[in-house]
Amino acid sequence: MNYNETLDLLKKHGQTQLLRYYDELSDESKASLLSQIEKIDWSLLKLLDRKEMKVEKGVLSPLGALEIDEINARREEFEKVGIDALRHEKVGAVLLAGGQGTRLGFDGPKGTYPIGVTHELYIFQCLINNLTDVVKRVGAWVPLYIMTSEKNNDATVKFFNEHNFFGYDKDHVHFFIQEMAPSVGYDGKILLEAKDRISLSPNGNGGWFTSLVKAGYLDHMKENGVEWLTVFAVDNVCQRINDPAFVGATIASGRDCGAKVVAKANPTEKIGVLCLEDGKPSIVEYYEITDDMKNLRDERGELLYKFGVILNYMFKISKLEDILRQKMPVHVVEKKIPYIDENGEPVKPTEPNGYKFETLVLDMIHMMDSCLSFEVVREKEFAPVKNATGVDSVETARELLKKNGVQL
Ligand code: UTP
Repeated sequence: MNYNETLDLLKKHGQTQLLRYYDELSDESKASLLSQIEKIDWSLLKLLDRKEMKVEKGVLSPLGALEIDEINARREEFEKVGIDALRHEKVGAVLLAGGQGTRLGFDGPKGTYPIGVTHELYIFQCLINNLTDVVKRVGAWVPLYIMTSEKNNDATVKFFNEHNFFGYDKDHVHFFIQEMAPSVGYDGKILLEAKDRISLSPNGNGGWFTSLVKAGYLDHMKENGVEWLTVFAVDNVCQRINDPAFVGATIASGRDCGAKVVAKANPTEKIGVLCLEDGKPSIVEYYEITDDMKNLRDERGELLYKFGVILNYMFKISKLEDILRQKMPVHVVEKKIPYIDENGEPVKPTEPNGYKFETLVLDMIHMMDSCLSFEVVREKEFAPVKNATGVDSVETARELLKKNGVQL
């Protein structure tokens, strides 16, 4: 598109601010900006009109979990299945590390955060150490796919190289880059992050399988006999990854996927609950369940909607292929988005100032026909680093790491 065509398009969408600095740019920057504008997915902006509308949920009902007592009683049986699959390298792992971690406010990929206190220990290192426990136990490497974004890929790859992959086998680590989406201010105008660059943010963690396939790794996995993938967040430093019990229980259940869950600390805890929606597995947010439902109890006095997800799942790859072309819901989320103002000055907001468009991995669960809900001990496996201080923070994660015997 040339300048005039681009201007017409922007007028049509009420977004001419994107060309505010055009005349000041070099020829190369001009061409680059026009090409970025050409790639904008305008359908995303229509979602802004509907962002206040509640998403209609189907009929919700409880989904029982495989609870800790039963897991312990059947641990040997599950681990046998898990170890067998892991030994044959049938289960890969996908680390979701494309997010921007704006709440933490750390300058660099979240995984490079030094969580150690008296010695060097990084978030990525904690995760690699946890995975390495499994590698040592089963005697086989786990193929690890790391999703980054354009914003943090170079820094992430460099960091892994500088630290010699924390002892993990380089040949079993594969990086792939997720896609981006434009970010807008509260007025719905797409922001500029530089005079020649529109503000783009990673488009959520829901596109991980599509991006993995686009990067050519589906063939790679098939050639190498990988049939299952676990998926986990970068920020939960304590979580066990590909542990044989979870892997084995999910495979043995014959279900399409598995999800690690923790018992809710109290009925109103702000955590997505795994349940059934119209008979299919689904994760509903704490604000989507009525107060009545939150407090419903069974004959044992246990909450019926008791189990919350911790972003640690396992999917059968053939089932993921089935949903590859299905459209996922896009969520409009409030975030702090750096931009340049009308004077061309960079602004780094301290409070949310606009919206990003994201698809979420939790929505994939509802696209599956069945899911094993697998309970884990919160104090052992749930220490997300979301904030610098307070709830789900560096402090709380350090405490839990220490409790679990990790030297900080
Ligand atoms: P979060 O929901 O915590 O989002 O991501 P975030 O963007 O990292 O952090 P905030 O909200 O800005 O503070 C949960 C997991 O999903 C990954 C993150 O890296 C984290 O592991 N993620 C998130 C992606 O891989 N890509 C995304 O676009 C968003």
